[in-house]
Amino acid sequence: MRTHHCNELRESHIGQTVTLIGWVNSARDHGGVIFIDLRDREGLTQCVFHPEENPEVSALSHTLREEDVVQVIGRVAKRLEGSENAKIATGAVEIVATTLTIVNKADVLPFQLDKELSNEDLRMKYRYLDLRRARMSKNIRQRSVITSAARRYLDESGFFEIETPILSNPTPEGARDFLVPSRLNPGRFYALPQAPQQYKQLLMVAGLEKYFQIARCFRDEDLRADRQPEFTQIDIEASFVNQDDIIKLVEGLLASMFKSGLGIDVPSPFPRMTYRDAEDIYGSDKPDTRFDMKITDLGDVFATTEFKIFRSIIDGGGVVRAINAKGFAGITTGQMNRLNEIAVQAGLPVKNLAFIKLENGEYKSPLWKIFTDAEKAAVVAKLDLAEGDIVFFGAGSRESVSTILGRVRSECAVMMELNKDSTKFNFLWVVDFPLLAHDEETGHWAAVHHPFTRPHPEDIAKLEAGDYANVRAVAYDVVLNGYELGGGSIRIHEKDLQAKMFSVLGVGPEEQQIKFGHLLDAFRFGAPPHGGLALGLDRIAMLVAGEDSIREVIAFPKNNKGADLMAHSPCQIEHKLLREVYVQSTYKDPKLAQEAKADVKA
Ligand code: AMO
Repeated sequence: MRTHHCNELRESHIGQTVTLIGWVNSARDHGGVIFIDLRDREGLTQCVFHPEENPEVSALSHTLREEDVVQVIGRVAKRLEGSENAKIATGAVEIVATTLTIVNKADVLPFQLDKELSNEDLRMKYRYLDLRRARMSKNIRQRSVITSAARRYLDESGFFEIETPILSNPTPEGARDFLVPSRLNPGRFYALPQAPQQYKQLLMVAGLEKYFQIARCFRDEDLRADRQPEFTQIDIEASFVNQDDIIKLVEGLLASMFKSGLGIDVPSPFPRMTYRDAEDIYGSDKPDTRFDMKITDLGDVFATTEFKIFRSIIDGGGVVRAINAKGFAGITTGQMNRLNEIAVQAGLPVKNLAFIKLENGEYKSPLWKIFTDAEKAAVVAKLDLAEGDIVFFGAGSRESVSTILGRVRSECAVMMELNKDSTKFNFLWVVDFPLLAHDEETGHWAAVHHPFTRPHPEDIAKLEAGDYANVRAVAYDVVLNGYELGGGSIRIHEKDLQAKMFSVLGVGPEEQQIKFGHLLDAFRFGAPPHGGLALGLDRIAMLVAGEDSIREVIAFPKNNKGADLMAHSPCQIEHKLLREVYVQSTYKDPKLAQEAKADVKA
């Protein structure tokens, strides 16, 4: 239907007769001469309809409206001097149209494509129009480019691309499962995979050595800007590897994706930080290191303090720490209230964060008069507290202070717009995660990564001795600008160690057999040492595109209630269909209840 796309014609084509097809991006009438910008996914080309060239075609061109699909045949001509458009690649030329076919007329659109639209619901309802916009089209293209680069890199590194089942069993990745009833097996359900974790490990037992998959994963969890109920992982597993092998592979993979997507060279190796340091210094296991605002320990400053609150916390084994938000002393009351709210949500036991700010040479603080001169001097020196700065304190257990100051640090960064630089890419590995965390609600120990993660070899004795809190895992996360891009681990490949791990997690022998019998069985037949990682493709695409929500890089995302406003999914299912899969809803839906009644009668 075309000889060229709309971003192809240059001065070298002048004189040629060409055929283009696409959408009318804009139409202008200049004294009876119609100019249109014809658009396809590649770009724009100006087409001119002169009455003297062909009166019929010219008359037809007067009926053109934005977003009509048209085919234009014409001569490539040089644009009149002074009317070139340097902003577009085809801006030196135009098509003098000799033929015009209106392939399909467009109704008036529900919104303009060349304006940013804040009504996200409207964008989602007409997502196919939203995707026509240049920004979205660029995002989808970039996502495709980096996905191809990942495939190429992994293929060249000897990885097989292997698909694993979507209809499978519940997978313990920390979220709720989406369930699918089985018609052929009454009363039984499949679960959609939260990740292909067990299958990829079984592929290692199968001797395939290097696996990857661009895998759809499904997690029923609370949604955020970087979380969707269905998302895509670049899922990787390899045999006979250690942590360094996986880290090196993934650094190369990310470098190839960023090179192809943005043309930038990502320096490697990436810095590595232990989980403990990340929590102590940044109050987060996915720190944004584009800005400092590090958490500073003030234990030595207040070692002999007589300030009662600090005294009792330090004596009780707790910590006193602080961050300096440099230049943020002008914080508004509204911002301060917001920070206090966030700190309370993060566990601050009192209503307000303790702070010191230095404004016009004066220290303003509820604490200032309580500190001794030596303490004041030490705080100022340790935190580099200068004119215009504000320091926030946290005192309590090491973990709670990290959580609170980490949240305050992130929020200050948002308020101070320190997190806006989308040209800086601070990759980081966080390593030595704890293996287990105590779940206060259930009273059980839970796996921090997942139950298949290998305990650190130096900490096996602690695992045996029941000192669970201090067992590290051979687990690693790759972090970029405050986002967890991916996570993985070296796995347990021995049946007994895996069974031990399950029992620590409160999964008894019988339940182990029911839920994980296949894996435990497989480990009896010569399972190779193996490990891997999964990258969140949506998050990588988001950061490559310079967006701050993964919805901007997913063709048909769900809204924050998990709904697709275009296709009206999830939808009601007729009673009859539910009955066929032996499902009865306990949700009292009046429509379904009526259908059920009618069905019973029939
Ligand atoms: P994990 O659960 O850390 O590991 O997931 C890996 C990566 O997937 C991305 N991700 C998500 N992206 C969008 N929406 C979500 N709801 C969502 N949940 C996770 C993140 C995350 O880093 N089986 C292990 C991997 C392994 O051990 O090899 C796993 O799934 O970027």
